[in-house]
Amino acid sequence: MAVCKIGPSILNSDLANLGAECQRMVSSGADYLHLDVMDGHFVPNITFGHPVVKALRPCVPNAMLDVHMMVQNPEKWVEEMQDAGVNHYTFHIEAIEDVGGCIRKIREAGMQVGIGIKPLTNVDVVLPFVDLVDTVLVMTVEPGFGGQKFMDDMMPKVRYLRQRYPKLDIEVDGGVGPSTIQACAEAGANMIVSGSAIMKSDVPREVINVLKGAVE
Ligand code: DX5
Ligand code: ZN
Repeated sequence: MAVCKIGPSILNSDLANLGAECQRMVSSGADYLHLDVMDGHFVPNITFGHPVVKALRPCVPNAMLDVHMMVQNPEKWVEEMQDAGVNHYTFHIEAIEDVGGCIRKIREAGMQVGIGIKPLTNVDVVLPFVDLVDTVLVMTVEPGFGGQKFMDDMMPKVRYLRQRYPKLDIEVDGGVGPSTIQACAEAGANMIVSGSAIMKSDVPREVINVLKGAVE
């Protein structure tokens, strides 16, 4: 079975103190940090790019950094993100035509590869690429904003992938917290992104432990 990992999304954290927020997540037991990059084109929101990721890297030198690229033409930022110290580069299949080329480019840069699908995208479109990537990200909200409602009807996608690929890292992202983790765990997700549920808690360690306990 794929190993369970919890990745807090820092989108809804205290953005004026992002370095400290990342450190707080690591010391609360985060297995990785999920950094949401948005360009205002692929999604109707703007966040931050590689300069901010690069500035964060020294604050959390040993953390696994997963960038969730919600940008058009994600192949453009591979070198910059590698230079910023990113470990895992996740892009959306809807954002690019040459999916194979983008996967190769990320690999050549020495990063792990994730491929994501939005809620309205059929899961079958990723099948030709599953053997080439490390992670498939199944969005459980329409990407763009933290704090949205979990879409339970995405779980059949996760189940479908898990039945076919017992060892694949399957990441879920959007509205995941203590009240929705059970559905994710039962469907077979093992990489759990959680933003507001962890960030809003006074004791993030407890939330992380609850999520871990449900999936392991
Ligand atoms: C949404 C982002 C998510 C988001 C998760 O587009 O990709 O990573 O920050 O936050 P919550 O858990 O609050 O939905
Ligand atoms: Zn995300």
